[in-house]
Amino acid sequence: STSGGTAASGMNFTPVAANTEDALVIPDGYRQQVVIRWGDPVLPGAPAFDFAAQTPEAQAQQFGFNNDFAGLIPVDGVPNHHYLVCNQEYTTEEFMFTGYTPKEPTEQQARISMAAHGITVVEVAAQPGTGALTPVVGQRNRRITASTPTGLTGPAAGSEFVITSADPAGTTVLGTIANCSGGLTPWGTMLSGEENFNNYFSNASTVTDPTTKADLERYSFTDDGDYHQWGRFEKRFDLAQEPNEANRFGYVVEVDPHDPTSTPVKHSALGRLKHESATIHVVGSGPDAGTVVAYSGDDERFEYIYKFVSTRKMKTGLSSTARTHNLGILDEGTLYVASFTGDDPGAIDGSGKLPPSGSFAGSGTWHPLLTVNSDGSARSHVDGMNPAQVAVFTRTAADKVGATKMDRPEDIEPHPRTGKVYCALTNNSKRGTDGEAPADSANPRNENKNGQIIEITDNHTGTDFTWDLLLVCGDPEEADTYFGGFDKASVSPISCPDNVAFDPHGNLWISTDGNALDSNDGLFAVALDGDRRGETKQFLTVPNGAETCGPIIDRDRVIVCVQHPGELDDHSADNPASHWPDGGSSQPRPAVVAVWRDGGQPIGV
Ligand code: FEO
Ligand code: CA
Ligand code: CA
Ligand code: CA
Repeated sequence: STSGGTAASGMNFTPVAANTEDALVIPDGYRQQVVIRWGDPVLPGAPAFDFAAQTPEAQAQQFGFNNDFAGLIPVDGVPNHHYLVCNQEYTTEEFMFTGYTPKEPTEQQARISMAAHGITVVEVAAQPGTGALTPVVGQRNRRITASTPTGLTGPAAGSEFVITSADPAGTTVLGTIANCSGGLTPWGTMLSGEENFNNYFSNASTVTDPTTKADLERYSFTDDGDYHQWGRFEKRFDLAQEPNEANRFGYVVEVDPHDPTSTPVKHSALGRLKHESATIHVVGSGPDAGTVVAYSGDDERFEYIYKFVSTRKMKTGLSSTARTHNLGILDEGTLYVASFTGDDPGAIDGSGKLPPSGSFAGSGTWHPLLTVNSDGSARSHVDGMNPAQVAVFTRTAADKVGATKMDRPEDIEPHPRTGKVYCALTNNSKRGTDGEAPADSANPRNENKNGQIIEITDNHTGTDFTWDLLLVCGDPEEADTYFGGFDKASVSPISCPDNVAFDPHGNLWISTDGNALDSNDGLFAVALDGDRRGETKQFLTVPNGAETCGPIIDRDRVIVCVQHPGELDDHSADNPASHWPDGGSSQPRPAVVAVWRDGGQPIGV
């Protein structure tokens, strides 16, 4: 549809200015509603939230803490009802309990924290004429926590690296943790990435076996990083007792909300890293039609971008035959890691200034790491590593094939119409510092505070691609920023891109985490095509201390996850920095919010 306004179609709203309000600030003419928040009942019989008297039993039936990804999946046969699938990444105990001493939980507090992690499936009903969504507390809902039995498939399963005293078969992990970003599959499931799983294990320093020690170091396990101290109460989180437990996290988890009794699955064929999501492209035509490609980023400084290309072709439809077939797609195929080369590497000096060609662009290669065959046998493509080693120590495998160290690859997602793949590289303060990799064409700034968005033109099943930078983020008044060639005098400042999504008009939407420009974080729309490519407008900002996550941009509704409101230095539940969303003197609560336009008109037209 052609816009009558002055912005790209779908982006006709008055941009929200940078601010530090303790509120979710939306454009004029829009409305908002908190759909669900930390502690709200999810399972039938769940008690109402009571901040001062929380229990593990209550938390396991209520919405978890720090929602990150959100997705809506239609409930078969029930019009206007969806499964809202949402992951709960991590807990900050000092904001959940008054009088909390950091890293000193009681057993009750540790078990509340475990139950506040994981994934929630909650049925929601759309309200006619508005964008509001009402949770339905019923039998379709489920809570998956740090204790829920979860299957492990692929070359890691049953290997010497994942066997523990509680699971000698090495096929069933208790729980999923550190889930960050995610994606929906066309076969009706949710994918979620296990990200900062190193922050849950104690006694890394007591491990003396040199190989195990090196493996732990490659994934940044340290004693100091153990914020949660669960190892005091469950020996599986104590590396001195169960060093292999660490190898059972860091996977892409698949959840089938259509069956509340289904067992979530960790797919080790997609590798073990700090997965920030996995998102799907299905090849539409030609000999590879039906092939599924899953993209994933590894969010840590100087880590890599990966893709998995399935062998099995997707079956369309939601019959039980198709579903069963499709649930095995992410278990057969080849895992690759990317390297990036610039067209004009000599022009990169770390300042972020444009090369003479006028844009940052280049080509790249996908390097195969691991192939899993239909019969479950597997082949490593990495010298000196067997398939199980590649599946479990994927970072080490990627190091050996010459992958390109990126500025923290966060969410990555293929455009539903063009197939181009967009990845948020959130920032990298260490780029170009002592002993670290210097700026390169795809990561063109040293001590990168504001991040960039890379656009990858991939043929999906092959090993070559081209790329360019869509945005080099920051204050548009600064010379080291780039907005796709658009006039920088008329764009919103953007910093630290994290999640990416698309609207029905084809625009890219970006949520931010860690804004380095003296504003709260927010949600932005970016035009991709034609004369308006690079036009960037802020749609909303989130309350003090919060990060913006999980956006869903539908025709008539925007959903956003507000993660960790009030999480600011020198604050805690004893001294809250936010009272959002309940107001007054209340404690801040992470929440999912719906935003829609007065009168139910489409967003941004
Ligand atoms: Fe949990 Fe990479 O953000
Ligand atoms: Ca993130
Ligand atoms: Ca996304
Ligand atoms: Ca982030």
